Amino acid sequence: MKTLLLQADERSVKYAGELLQRGEIVAIPTETVYGIAADCTDGDAVAKIFAAKGRPQDNPLIVHIASRDMLEGVVSSFPPQAEKLAAAFWPGPLTMILPRGDKLCDATCAGLSSVGVRFPAHPVAQAVIRAAGVPLSAPSANLSGKPSPTNARDVFADMQGRLPLVLDGGDCKAGVESTVVSLLGDIPVILRPGYITREQMQDVLGTEVLVSQAITHAVKAGEKVLSPGMKYRHYAPDAMLTLVKGDFASFREYVRGMPEKNVFCLCFDGEEKDLPVPAISYGKKGDGAAQAHALFSALRELDRRGAKTVYVRCPEETGISLAVYNRLLRAAAFRVIDLGGDGKNR
Ligand code: TXA
Ligand code: MG
Repeated sequence: MKTLLLQADERSVKYAGELLQRGEIVAIPTETVYGIAADCTDGDAVAKIFAAKGRPQDNPLIVHIASRDMLEGVVSSFPPQAEKLAAAFWPGPLTMILPRGDKLCDATCAGLSSVGVRFPAHPVAQAVIRAAGVPLSAPSANLSGKPSPTNARDVFADMQGRLPLVLDGGDCKAGVESTVVSLLGDIPVILRPGYITREQMQDVLGTEVLVSQAITHAVKAGEKVLSPGMKYRHYAPDAMLTLVKGDFASFREYVRGMPEKNVFCLCFDGEEKDLPVPAISYGKKGDGAAQAHALFSALRELDRRGAKTVYVRCPEETGISLAVYNRLLRAAAFRVIDLGGDGKNR
């Protein structure tokens, strides 16, 4: 299949809408990461997404809407907590898990009785949903297991020949995927940290929001998880990553002692020149938003530069940095070394 890469404009968005109405799949920009979209009611179209990504069949997709009216048939209830979160954070990078509605195809929900729903803020994502005239099921636009793409070039690298159209809407602002929060129980539970933080949601709801254990701990074989995506190795470049906790001086000495070839570091802005091996920055120390924005393209850059072993400076575990920490833990298959010190990673 020939894959077109088109600048997102009125004409190409209209064409994307036509393809989606015909049961095709299209890669689109959102404010978090690029997604691969299909009509959420069309099982055959959604099956094409799973095939293009090589995605396990038991991992459900998020449904994207472009107006509150579009919730009809997507969810079967919209409780008060959802109303409050939607008022504060939609359109935006927040996915809510709610009881599923009757118009979704089974493949979208992967057999679950719930669905993840989100109203993206990106104008191109909204325009494509409107052009298709139906909510769109869309996972991140990477091959399963790879880092999510935050620009059209990275989408094209993974998806060339696998779908008919990639719409280029520039670099994604957030750079990490949406926060996924389950509203199925009495207390909201974050299943995947993202750009909208626990602290922000607690402020809006006036209640506690829990964070699932699986965000910072490896899921054991056979263990039941709230979110199927947590079972899988994720976001991983070809290189072997290790997260290193500790201050900068200890980190530098640790890396200096490494005998392997093609060792790289993933570090914070300005540290590159003081490291004994090639280093790529993933943003400013202590700045979760900057790190989120840079992380996935930095992981892909490591592959392009032939890195085999990568030592990574560890981000904080609060605010947006919790999302960055979670993605890095998974990219590193939970390999973490703690060099001690005061834990401030200075
Ligand atoms: O920012 C985003 O959310 C991007 C853009 C394209 O919108 N999408 C995205 O989708 O990251 P995906 O498929 O790569 O990740 C969706 C995550 C998976 O971990 C999946 O298991 C979880 O959400 N999920 C989806 N539906 C769920 C459900 N009903 N219950 C629990 N987890 C669910
Ligand atoms: Mg994904």
